[in-house]
Parts: sequence; structure tokens; C-alpha cells
Amino acid sequence: MQNFISVHDVTDINALVKKALAYKADPFKDRQLGADKRIGLLFLNPSLRTRLSTQVAAKNLGMEAIVFNVDKEGWMLEFEEGAIMSGNSVEHVKDAAPILGQYFDILCIRTFPSLKNREDDYSEMYINQFIKYAGVPVISLESATLHPLQSLTDIITIQESIIAKPIGRKPKIVLSWAPHIKPLPQCVANSFAQWVNTWGEADFVITHPADYELAEKFTAGATITQDQDAALAGADFVYVKNWSTYTDYGKIYENDPKWMLTDEKMKTTNQAKVMHCLPVRRNVELSDEILDGPLSLVTKEAGNRVWAAQAVIAEILQTNHK
Ligand code: CP
Repeated sequence: MQNFISVHDVTDINALVKKALAYKADPFKDRQLGADKRIGLLFLNPSLRTRLSTQVAAKNLGMEAIVFNVDKEGWMLEFEEGAIMSGNSVEHVKDAAPILGQYFDILCIRTFPSLKNREDDYSEMYINQFIKYAGVPVISLESATLHPLQSLTDIITIQESIIAKPIGRKPKIVLSWAPHIKPLPQCVANSFAQWVNTWGEADFVITHPADYELAEKFTAGATITQDQDAALAGADFVYVKNWSTYTDYGKIYENDPKWMLTDEKMKTTNQAKVMHCLPVRRNVELSDEILDGPLSLVTKEAGNRVWAAQAVIAEILQTNHK
């Protein structure tokens, strides 16, 4: 693995999941792999889980992890080629990234979309410019359109659950839109759809209100319905997430509480496990009764972020071993 930007960087999802679960069973078995190496974690946006789980994962592999909150502590970066930098940005990525590439063996970066211009966001300029100029492997800590470390974690969590309690058939996985008070990126939903479709070992259904269609390039292969009750029937896993509109880009049309998952709605499922990437707005996106109840996987899911990050960092270190 050279970079980790999307599922397309992975040759075998099940093998990567197996590697992650092996690290969960024995976190320090490769503590020499990253000895004398450094990983840089650049944040242009806030984070709790991604930041800390990646630091812990790197430490488990013997690496030194250094976090740089670019948005708060760094010079404002310019990403446009040929930009006349007479505005707020102070340093161009083509100057900054090669320097960072000399300081670190692996660079990780989190950037969010503007949600103002779909073409700009979906061009993934920020992360692509880092890859172009850094000269070292780059890991996405969430980009404008995707969150691959989260999605790998989600597949790990689903597989772990199935190993513990086999279903005896393909699991039915439902991605269900949830209400929110403000427009959020489509990253987690796009990425989850992309990974589940590529994994190909589930009956996959996406449900959302009218006008909340995601980009077809990520959802193709899934069943898509605006009937949440029909989607939930017989579900084994329900992945709950809000996203803003893709077609009329970055809007929220409704915050309809009837889309929030409750114990009542779960009655037609196959005692489905409930997942969410966190952070979650309680009693807006997901009810207390679900989050605090026996069907919630969210804490285990967030814990598994470490093993996803550790598997990815290890793959990159092994690929680039000199
Ligand atoms: N799920 C997730 O990426 O959490 P953070 O934003 O806290 O990193």
C-alpha cells in the first residue's frame, strides 16, 4: 500500500480486516516495525477519535507520532496551482508539503469539504496536492468526500460481530439517514457505501428522505429506498448517519425527527446492531435508548479505530520497507 485515500488503495479488504483483528489480539507484536520512524498528523479540522486512535496505533508500532493542528497553529495554506497569494493564505502546499515529507516517513491529513462548491470538494484538491508534493506516503484522516479509516473500522466491527455470532447468510446492512441541525459532509456515508459495495459480502440497503441521494459512483450496487421502515425490516446492522444534500449541494431540507432511530423502529430488524461514527447529537440523530441500549456498537466501533489505523500504517511501512 502506497497511500490510503480510499478503498481503491486496498487489494484485499478481508486480509486487512484480519490484520487489524490480529493487532487487536496482540497490539505490540510489530513494535519494531516503526522503530526510528515518524508519522505526522496534520489537522485542518477538529477530531477526537481519528487523532488519538492514529497516535495510539503509531505508538503500538514503535513510531513517534507528531500532531500539527494546521488550522490553529500553522500558516494558512494555499492549495490552488498558480494562485496569486494576495489573500489570507500565507504558504503554498507545494512549499510546505515537501518540507513535511523530509520531517516524516508518513504524512496523514484531515481536511473537510467547504460544502459550497461540489466540483471543488469532489476534486479532492487538498489531499491530492499533498500526495503530489509530499514525496512520502499519505493517509487520509478524512477528506472532502471520503473517510476510509472510519469505513475500514466499520467493516472490522461488522466482521467481528459476525465472527462472535454467525448469521449463516449474507448480513443485511442498512445505511440510514438521520436528522441533524446543520449541513454535514457526505464523507462518512459515501465512504461506507463505497467500502460495503466493494467488500461485496452484504445485502446493502441505503435509506434517506427525498432529495438526499448520494453520488452514484459510491452507491452503485446498493438498494436505495425512501421507505425507512421497509429498509429496516430484517436488518442485521443499521449504520446511522446524517449527510447534507449532494445534488443541490450542501443543504439541509428537513430535520424530520421521524427519521431518528428508536427502539420501536428496531422491532422489525433481526435485533440489528446499531453503528455510528461519532460524534453524535443525542436525541437528534440517535435516541438515548438506542445509544445506551444493548444493540449499540458505537463504543466498540470507536475503539476499533486503533486497529484499523494500525493495520493501515503497518501495510504502508511494509510496502516502503528499505
Ligand atoms: N469518527 C470520527 O472521525 O471522529 P473524529 O471526528 O472525532 O475524529
